[in-house]
Amino acid sequence: MQITICKTPEEASRLAGEIVNNAIKKNPKLVLGLATGSTPLLLYKEMYTACKAGLSYKKVRTFNLDEYYGLPVEKPQSYRSFMNENLFNHLDIDMKNTHVPDGLAKDVEKSCAQYEKMMKAAGGVDIQVLGIGGDGHIGFNEPGSSLVSRTHLVTLTPRTIKDNTRFFTKSSEVPRYAISMGVGTVMEAKCCLMLCFGKNKADAVKGMIEGGVSQFCPASALQYHPNTIVFIDEAAASKLTLKAYYKWACQHPAKLN
Ligand code: GLP
Repeated sequence: MQITICKTPEEASRLAGEIVNNAIKKNPKLVLGLATGSTPLLLYKEMYTACKAGLSYKKVRTFNLDEYYGLPVEKPQSYRSFMNENLFNHLDIDMKNTHVPDGLAKDVEKSCAQYEKMMKAAGGVDIQVLGIGGDGHIGFNEPGSSLVSRTHLVTLTPRTIKDNTRFFTKSSEVPRYAISMGVGTVMEAKCCLMLCFGKNKADAVKGMIEGGVSQFCPASALQYHPNTIVFIDEAAASKLTLKAYYKWACQHPAKLN
């Protein structure tokens, strides 16, 4: 993992935005894996600001990590609505190239297998944007999820339901299930770009970077990913034992002349 501790979420998102936008400059047909939640919002702003300044997203293909199960897509809380509102509507992207798991699929297994097939047919995800749940989940892969899982139907934990209640009027409205790429699916991305901000992510960040690799903290699987870039703010980094070293290594990157 390449770990960068930034002063603010703004700085972290600017650096992450440079990675995404530069990759699109090099490959206009890039395949992006995308996440929801409050964490990637500043990154998405970096992306549509670059687009408004002339970087075309027209041919970019996207696959979202997850979607609530049983929530109509028109609902503002659906992840499809979230993505349209916070990113896609601000880009010149062809909506046909944007994919979110089908939370209303009648045959869930078939629909999940189809989602995996579409990603493969697109050539696989080049950059997967990730946030982390307070319990260490990625996508909606809750603690206890197999680290080799594929896109599947998930039972959300009471903690995730509680954390996500802020987007609904009351907790009983939060769906109890979701469709999520599996940890195994995420691990196939060529690059994972993980953003974590705020002190309520500090335990999860500690587990992801310095804990043992375990399904108890699904994000810890990224320790086995060959190209994971992590941008965190000071608050999210506050429980890291090797915090000073990560900063030192960032200032003195190992480079061959
Ligand atoms: C949800 C999403 C995750 C996201 C997490 C954290 O559970 N399924 O993909 O990373 O929330 O959200 P936030 O960024 O709002 O803290």
